[in-house]
Amino acid sequence: MIEILAPAKVNLTLRVLGKRPDGYHDLESLTCQMDLCDRLRITEEPSAISFSCDREELAGPDNLAWRAALLLKERSRTPRGAALRLEKRIPAGAGLGGGSSDAAAALRGLSRLWGLGWDTPRLAELGAGLGSDVPLFLHPSPALMTGRGETVTPLQVRVDAHFLLVYPGFPVSTAWAYGNFRLTRKGSEDRIARLLDKLREGIVPDSWGEVLVNDLEEGVFPRYPVLRELKELLLRQGARASLLSGSGSTVFGLFDQREAAEDAAGALAHREGWSVFLARPVCG
Ligand code: C5P
Repeated sequence: MIEILAPAKVNLTLRVLGKRPDGYHDLESLTCQMDLCDRLRITEEPSAISFSCDREELAGPDNLAWRAALLLKERSRTPRGAALRLEKRIPAGAGLGGGSSDAAAALRGLSRLWGLGWDTPRLAELGAGLGSDVPLFLHPSPALMTGRGETVTPLQVRVDAHFLLVYPGFPVSTAWAYGNFRLTRKGSEDRIARLLDKLREGIVPDSWGEVLVNDLEEGVFPRYPVLRELKELLLRQGARASLLSGSGSTVFGLFDQREAAEDAAGALAHREGWSVFLARPVCG
């Protein structure tokens, strides 16, 4: 039996550069994986693939981990099978990359279990066909995503902060968030460079708020005003910065001290439907 942890991610910066002829958007995003993880258990079976999940509503054939397993079996032409059992902790449709991370975990785990010897670029190419974020989870964190997200450059930086992730109890559709995006030039251009410079120097930015940016907030917040409220609430609770992760719906706050993040978690946890997660970045 193989057990693999599938981490969540947050986007510390997300710039949308423009729409592409294939309908996707080119982007540039600095991402960091978190120690909030799903757990995937894989056991070898004679020939078939089976899949189960502790959240019934996610146990259907749309599940990206299941689809990843079927695709790898087909492409590798292996006669071998596997039973996959997924335990979810990362909320779905939350902008935390949970489904993509589960798919990446399935690809890594099955490649090992079946002795395929597929390297990361080969698995990443297959994974990119399942979702733009899948390759990200096959690489070490933190990383820069470009193209439609499938081009991943791991970064030698440390992100030293305590994260409070707040899931508001409803998902936001990624396709809708990108479809609703209107390109404006509003000066987010040099933020990634500035943030990277600081992190490379080992400096915790004294003003995270100036360097963190998510271009999708502008389209998502008017439709879901509670997310803007949540961001303001996190800042009032002492977060050094707060941002929508990916296309949402999770909003995260970034704190210098664990105690401050815990205090904020305590203050926000009582809101009905909200789930709060304290998380630390996975670096290297
Ligand atoms: O790649 P993924 O399946 O996660 O994307 C879901 C949807 O989000 C796409 O069908 C597309 O509408 C939108 N998207 C986009 N540009 C990206 C990533 C996603 O427009 N870079």
